[in-house]
Amino acid sequence: MFSERIERLSGSLIREILSLTQRPGMISFAGGLPASHMMPCFDFTQLPAELRQYGPSEGEPILREKIAEHVRQLGIQATAEQVLVLSGSQQALDLVAKLFIDPGTPMLVEAPTYLAALQNFKLFGADLHELPLSAAGIDPEQLRQTAQRTRPACCYLIPTFQNPSGYCYSPETRAAVSQVLDDLMLPLIEDEPYRELAYDAVERRPLCAGLKQAPFIYCGSFSKTATPGLRVGYLVASPKLMPYLIKLKQAADLHTNRVGQYVLAKWLDTPDYHAHIATIRQYYRQQRDTMIDALNRHCQELAEWETPPGGLFIWARLRKPLDTREILKTTMARNVAFMPGEPFFATPVDTAGCIRLNFSHASADAVEQGIAIIKDALQDAFVNLKS
Ligand SMILES: Cc1ncc(COP(=O)(O)O)c(C=O)c1O
Repeated sequence: MFSERIERLSGSLIREILSLTQRPGMISFAGGLPASHMMPCFDFTQLPAELRQYGPSEGEPILREKIAEHVRQLGIQATAEQVLVLSGSQQALDLVAKLFIDPGTPMLVEAPTYLAALQNFKLFGADLHELPLSAAGIDPEQLRQTAQRTRPACCYLIPTFQNPSGYCYSPETRAAVSQVLDDLMLPLIEDEPYRELAYDAVERRPLCAGLKQAPFIYCGSFSKTATPGLRVGYLVASPKLMPYLIKLKQAADLHTNRVGQYVLAKWLDTPDYHAHIATIRQYYRQQRDTMIDALNRHCQELAEWETPPGGLFIWARLRKPLDTREILKTTMARNVAFMPGEPFFATPVDTAGCIRLNFSHASADAVEQGIAIIKDALQDAFVNLKS
């Protein structure tokens, strides 16, 4: 009855967990949501009447200009014609998949990587090859060899405050990865929804800014800086990719909602924007430090982790290889949720032995309580593993 691709359609574990975390009394470290009370309040009362009409598929010209200006400041030499405003940066992944992937098309991704990207690339039948990720990023030489061996259509990377790991590529890795992509003329999909959530001074120059000739699609979002409910994100692409991406966007949804684009364009022009970024950085830095402190006190014997220099996640690697989905069942029974590590890998793994902890919205008390409950569950599981 359905298309052959529906057989590859997987549910999003995170959405299932998120629906359970709505239970009263639940402490959730599972989602990647910005803190609700830290979102800006927009004025939706003074909207121009013409916004009620259909708009351009490419996006509102004023917002495209602002996005082009923003990415130029990051070192990506792009004009507004290279900007496509999207219904969330998630849409970039859908358009990328439609542009590059047929069943069996090789593609490179980090291991671990963003769950909903995997869900999408797999739906289109990509043959995913993994590049193991460490705190400094992927290994450029491994990228070169894997690409030469598998001949991928493109490479999907999240170099800045990665989801799920929180890792940020080092300056050396950034330069070397861009060089390899250029050498091989391998198209880069660079996904950067977390880049403004920076808490420590680290290099964040986009890989795309270091490219001289490889085609690129740079993806950005207003979900983590403003509000995800508006569903406004964007991509900036090499000129030769744009005609295809615009047509794919047209075919998908004609254009992104105009109200969201309008209020965001206005907001970006005000001092409120920069003040807001400074405020959320300070708030999330504090949230991060609170969770790191709780982990240090409760979990040192059980796991290890880095302090992420930005983003919304801590990636804790357990000292024993456990199936963290089983640990989740135990903590959920005590009203604590986190994201098990297994689904973040393109190649199915039985025991990832890693968990993702979101620190953006639980209170300090909830963090203390929740981490203590995770510690109990891990301790029990470690004992059972021995026996
Ligand atoms: C790596 C990554 N890419 C894309 C997205 C999608 O974001 P948006 O709300 O802009 O669609 C997310 C959301 O969490 C993400 O973590």
